[in-house]
Amino acid sequence: MNKPRIIISSLLASVLVLGLLVLLWPDSSDSNQTVDTSRVFSLVEVENHSTENDCWTVIEGGVYDITSYISRHPGGNEILRACGADSTQLFSTRTDTDGNSVGSGQPHSPVAEAQLEKMRIGRVSE
Ligand code: HEM
Repeated sequence: MNKPRIIISSLLASVLVLGLLVLLWPDSSDSNQTVDTSRVFSLVEVENHSTENDCWTVIEGGVYDITSYISRHPGGNEILRACGADSTQLFSTRTDTDGNSVGSGQPHSPVAEAQLEKMRIGRVSE
């Protein structure tokens, strides 16, 4: 191989490698990757998100923004009880603090738990 051909081949190889790097580099603008689930919120901060249009809740120490899920909730508006509050008991037993059943009074299904995890935005401070 002569010298110019080696130079051109090296240049082409470099362009190819750079192109691949640009394509495969993690995209920080991808919304699924920008949610920093290690953020820590105080309970007071959670309490400030207590409406149907802005609904955060605490379940077993995790903080969840469930706003987008409210209209899809199979249990209807009962989910609004969770907004701005620690809803661990409500979610895990479907009973209220007086021990009264909300719906079946049974724990939510694993499907519900999996959906919940997608809405995690952080955890509550001790
Ligand atoms: C914390 C407050 C909540 C309350 C009081 C509540 C209540 C209910 C009720 C009454 C039902 C109808 C079934 C029954 O009668 O037991 C239901 C079903 C359901 N809820 Fe909730 N819910 C809450 C939060 C959530 C959240 C945060 C999610 C998901 C991320 C969720 C997901 C589901 C699903 C998937 C069902 C269908 C049945 C099942 O999979 O367990 N709920 N809920």
